[in-house]
Amino acid sequence: MRSRPACSRAEHGSPVCESGGVQPGDTTPPTDADRSDLSIGVGPYAGPWPADERLDPDLLAGGDRRNVVDEYRYWRQDAIVADLDARRHEFHVAVENWGHDFNIGSVIRTANAFNAKAFHIVGKRRWNRRGAMVTDRYQHEYHHPTVQDLVAWAGPHGEIHPGLPLIGIDNLPGSTAIELAELPRRCVLVFGQEGPGLTDEMRAACVEVLHITQFGSTRSINAGAAAAIAMHTWVRQHATI
Ligand SMILES: C[S@@+](CC[C@H](N)C(=O)[O-])C[C@H]1O[C@@H](n2cnc3c(N)ncnc32)[C@H](O)[C@@H]1O
Repeated sequence: MRSRPACSRAEHGSPVCESGGVQPGDTTPPTDADRSDLSIGVGPYAGPWPADERLDPDLLAGGDRRNVVDEYRYWRQDAIVADLDARRHEFHVAVENWGHDFNIGSVIRTANAFNAKAFHIVGKRRWNRRGAMVTDRYQHEYHHPTVQDLVAWAGPHGEIHPGLPLIGIDNLPGSTAIELAELPRRCVLVFGQEGPGLTDEMRAACVEVLHITQFGSTRSINAGAAAAIAMHTWVRQHATI
């Protein structure tokens, strides 16, 4: 099987990265803590190796300590991505990245857990991968330098995915309770960063903004927690359980 290119360029000119991993110049490489923890995963494969091209000879020989579900033990990374590709959900996840918010990794990890179609980083290309726990390697990653680049990619006149609505997730004035909303099956769930939340430009680009209803005194919940609730709302409405 061939591995995917680390980076490609979309026709509309915005740089697009797929199946991220560590990008050139990224000084915050992911810590695959599980890889070195011998209490996690499985050791070398015992017995004759199965004849299955999805399996990685190095993992069979040395053991598999990666952060993957048991059914993917010993699988090659590109085989796992291909298997996930065959059943990805119809929602995308986008995160504004203007200030290296450390919460982004958590959002990306959850996008993997719920098998989002892809994730999108809007703003700075480099993002803090630590909290992603290497889950970004099994996903499709797009980078959009500006909000307008994301709009061009997804909006009604977008060339690649025309008409994919941007759904803002933030507790802003005029937003609707997500608990009462019906999420479109095909959509991009867009999250803001700690502090400012969604930018005015992103807010204007969204067809609607949904908030997670709160009952306490804090202004907001953690962006990673909010992303998990929003993605799970999509799952509850559309996924086959
Ligand atoms: C810390 S919040 C930002 C700001 C927030 N709008 C405020 O007024 O303080 C960072 C991000 O987390 C998400 N978030 C946090 N609490 C949320 C909530 N109750 N409903 C929806 N999204 C929320 C949003 O994506 C938001 O952009």
